[in-house]
Amino acid sequence: MSLILPVACGTTRQHRLYNATPQASGFHPKPILRQAKFLSSSGFPLSPYERSDRFLTVARFGSNEPLPAKFSPAKLAPLEIVGGNAAGAASIKIPLPAPVTEDMDVEEHHANKSGFLSEAGPRPIDKYMHLRDLREHDTTKYYQLMLKNAQQVLPFIYTPTVGQACQEYHSLGIKTRGLYLSLNDRGSILSKLRAWPQQDIQVIVVTDGERILGLGDLGANGMGISEGKIELYTAAAGVDPSKCLPIALDVGTNNAKLRESPEYKGLRSARPSDEEYDAFVDEFMQALKIWRPHVLLQYEDFGNHNAFRVLEKYQSGFCCFNDDIQGTAGITLAALLGALRIRGGRLSEQRILFLGAGEAACGIATLISYCMHRREGLSEESSRQRCYLMDSKGLVVSSRTDLQHHKKPFAHDAPFVHTLIEAVRMLKPTAIIGVSAVPNTFDEEVIKTMAELNERPIIFPLSNPTSLSECTFEQAVKWTDGRVIFASGSPFDPIEYNGELHNAPQANNAYIFPAVGHAAVLTKAKTIPQAVFLVAAEQLAAMATIKELQTGSVFPQFSNIRLISAAIMAAVVRYLVNSGLGTVPAGWEGHDTGEGLDWRHMASAAMWSPSSTSRL
Ligand code: NAI
Repeated sequence: MSLILPVACGTTRQHRLYNATPQASGFHPKPILRQAKFLSSSGFPLSPYERSDRFLTVARFGSNEPLPAKFSPAKLAPLEIVGGNAAGAASIKIPLPAPVTEDMDVEEHHANKSGFLSEAGPRPIDKYMHLRDLREHDTTKYYQLMLKNAQQVLPFIYTPTVGQACQEYHSLGIKTRGLYLSLNDRGSILSKLRAWPQQDIQVIVVTDGERILGLGDLGANGMGISEGKIELYTAAAGVDPSKCLPIALDVGTNNAKLRESPEYKGLRSARPSDEEYDAFVDEFMQALKIWRPHVLLQYEDFGNHNAFRVLEKYQSGFCCFNDDIQGTAGITLAALLGALRIRGGRLSEQRILFLGAGEAACGIATLISYCMHRREGLSEESSRQRCYLMDSKGLVVSSRTDLQHHKKPFAHDAPFVHTLIEAVRMLKPTAIIGVSAVPNTFDEEVIKTMAELNERPIIFPLSNPTSLSECTFEQAVKWTDGRVIFASGSPFDPIEYNGELHNAPQANNAYIFPAVGHAAVLTKAKTIPQAVFLVAAEQLAAMATIKELQTGSVFPQFSNIRLISAAIMAAVVRYLVNSGLGTVPAGWEGHDTGEGLDWRHMASAAMWSPSSTSRL
């Protein structure tokens, strides 16, 4: 199934956006069109492979051109997701990733009728259990329902409901779908993997349960996170669910209450020493390499004293990434690039202050400075100096002697200050990013000061869940008099302020990690370097439409996630193949993968949908 979209020589304004000579039409949408085809969203010239394929890409801004505060709708037709390439072909076929079948409508009808999809339906945890049940007994229907209604159904499969599910996992009578590997399996991890009923595994999400969402150490109950997160690979990026494996490493728990619970199924011991832990993780990693050498491994919700060490140790020899560090970085960089499409300016001109200096903050700051360095030519040192972090003790500066390893690259020569407001006044940031899990820390004084310092302050309270958010959307809009450019970790409803609609985009990692992971699987990637998350973030940032940007949405609508993922997959596959880290996906070896359009066709064609298999 494909959607044919005319580009380049069409007659509407939307089509003219891709015309090689737009001025000829007498229509001059300057802010979006000038050099649109040759600049990345951060304003840096695109590389040849980026220029060659503008799949699902909307027009981009020149480097210093802000989106005018007000667009006349008559002048700028909404730019929807359109196909187009730099050469300006007359039409492009974009295969739709997931065929929508009549079966799906039937299931959706039942779901609606039972009130399942409505807010007034059963309690979220009951919906979670119902969906697990449906998955077990009618897997095809489950995926049909999920794919057709991803936006409504995912909150009951993953966050926020999965948090409660993990807390109660041991007492809910859940039949686990994933594989537990416990310290008692030492010496026989490979044979346990080989005994798993499904051997053709392509994607694994693994947790050790130590830092589940913001809920702390949930030990073996963390399995719920691996199970929930892996579903997003299918929902968002079309990975065949029979090739996905959730794993929980059961290394005990320091959660005494859980250990004492008679229903708890995990090891009833405290977490092991670093040496014991490292040896166990290493046996797991080496066993994986023998069992499934090309498997994509996602680390999820490891405590931060292990997360950085484990990632550093294995990222150059395995096809793996940590979503809390790198996926978060990808989505936040995309939000920032989207914000600059609204506000104008280059990334390397920004001063970014983070409240928090853990996995999320360090991951985001590392990717932002990498982008400034690679795309905008700033030195590595100067790029890092555009990012300042604050932890629970205060500003991370070079004079401090108590800093953990992962904070040190961002410890700059600056006076130490204790509080956020002092840091804001001293550093005059253009953006503040909250990843501290401490609510209400972006208070009125902080936000009003940001609004005094910046015409369009960028304020991203990313901490989850909503109760931990550094500020609410309403506060950010009110205290900046509607000038804020906002993104949050948890969802907030849109609001009207001074007669204008303001949307609160949610920085959902699911925009990034499933597409990155699926691209790595398709190319049998050896490793997943930092650049992959940069490519993914740029692709995502380019896809918000003008209409979305006008209402503050720095991301394209999540309801288009399969199309969005296909575009990101295409960009990442192309990067991995061109950089020699991956191979051309199976079945596409003979195709023109240079300047042609095969990448996007390949990405869409590779996406699984429930009607395309009978193995379920
Ligand atoms: P973490 O535990 O690794 O880091 C938390 C950091 O906050 C630590 O550096 C700690 O020192 C700092 N902190 C604690 N109290 C503070 C205070 N009063 N002032 C300043 N800093 C303080 O946690 P991680 O993984 O970095 O996550 C942090 C938050 O970010 C969580 O709420 C998480 O839900 C959220 N998050 C949001 C994402 C998204 O929106 N897509 C993705 C990943 C995380």
